[in-house]
Amino acid sequence: MSARPTRFQFTPDLGICRVLNGMWQVSGAHGDIDSGGAIAEMFAYHDAGFTTWDLADHYGPAEDFIGDFRREFAVRYGAARLTESQAFTKWVPRPGRVTRRLVDEAVERSLSRMGVKCLDLLQFHWWDYGDRGYLDALKHLGDLRQEGKIRHLGLTNFDTERLRIITDHGVRIVSNQVQYSLVDRRPDVAMAAFCRDHEISLLTYGTVLGGLLSEKYLGKGQPRRTELNTASLQKYSNMIDVWGGWPLFQELLSVLKPIADKHGVSIANVGVRYVLDRPEVAGVIVGTRLGISQHIADTLRVFALSLDAGDRAKIDAVLEKSRDLMTVIGDCGDEYR
Ligand SMILES: NC(=O)c1ccc[n+]([C@@H]2O[C@H](COP(=O)([O-])OP(=O)(O)OC[C@H]3O[C@@H](n4cnc5c(N)ncnc54)[C@H](OP(=O)(O)O)[C@@H]3O)[C@@H](O)[C@H]2O)c1
Repeated sequence: MSARPTRFQFTPDLGICRVLNGMWQVSGAHGDIDSGGAIAEMFAYHDAGFTTWDLADHYGPAEDFIGDFRREFAVRYGAARLTESQAFTKWVPRPGRVTRRLVDEAVERSLSRMGVKCLDLLQFHWWDYGDRGYLDALKHLGDLRQEGKIRHLGLTNFDTERLRIITDHGVRIVSNQVQYSLVDRRPDVAMAAFCRDHEISLLTYGTVLGGLLSEKYLGKGQPRRTELNTASLQKYSNMIDVWGGWPLFQELLSVLKPIADKHGVSIANVGVRYVLDRPEVAGVIVGTRLGISQHIADTLRVFALSLDAGDRAKIDAVLEKSRDLMTVIGDCGDEYR
């Protein structure tokens, strides 16, 4: 294994850790989180080098946790070091007309909860492409960027067609957050090339499939619904069903295991590395159930892992047997629409 970069220059002014800590896992849909324990765990991630957080306005207390973490961080390490931590939130408005006032209120709420004067990255989600109000929303968000309330604008779950419309309207977007994994490779079809041509980074989720992409499920029968005890496990179990089913997934795990063993890493590490190696991918988001479970030591191994051509050929041979999710579901994010 050779050392690989742990960090990525996301924008000229923002460096990030290439594995981001995902905070959907504190929303309540993945087990009860104790806030005191969660903040202590955030320090464990940060101190191990995992300095970048992915969250959203609707992930339960996630934005408040960032605020609490930053206040405690300033006491422990001094306010000058707060720039070592990056927090990428989202705005997911309900369907309907977007006014400047609505956007102002949403951004002010996030600023206040997170205890910051400026959002590092605001990732915007939109439910209904039939309503072109997303262009109004982005215009207002762009104005707030000009005014210094938002450093950078990103998107989440936008498809390639809409990303083109947005960039054609002159809106500067730095990233799109999409599902990207060994199971869901839809970004390979059109999204990645578009992003490459327009200097837009991908941030990915679902890469470890809620934990299904691990030794824990190798050689096991398909978990029953009642055993899938997080929203994330349920989401990616459904994705596996659509992709090719549990037997094919077992075949994938059984191919990944000797590759992982050969490199002295875990199956999850191989899955994360495969996606991190895509040139358009700035970072992979891995969900953190703060205070319930922790994978810091294992995840650190990703940075020293290099997959060789033989590893990739073996993996790709299994992936070729799957259904084409672009045909079955559609482009990135279409599962939400
Ligand atoms: N934009 C969107 O629409 C969207 C949608 C989903 C997620 N996200 C973002 O992506 C983040 C991740 O969410 P996700 O749904 O994609 O979940 P995920 O990262 O695929 O799964 C997280 C779970 O995987 C397990 N895990 C993590 N590292 C592991 C390792 N090294 N070995 C074995 N198991 C490991 C843990 O399970 P245990 O806790 O059980 O150990 C963890 O809770 C979210 O927090 C959010 O920030 C965004």
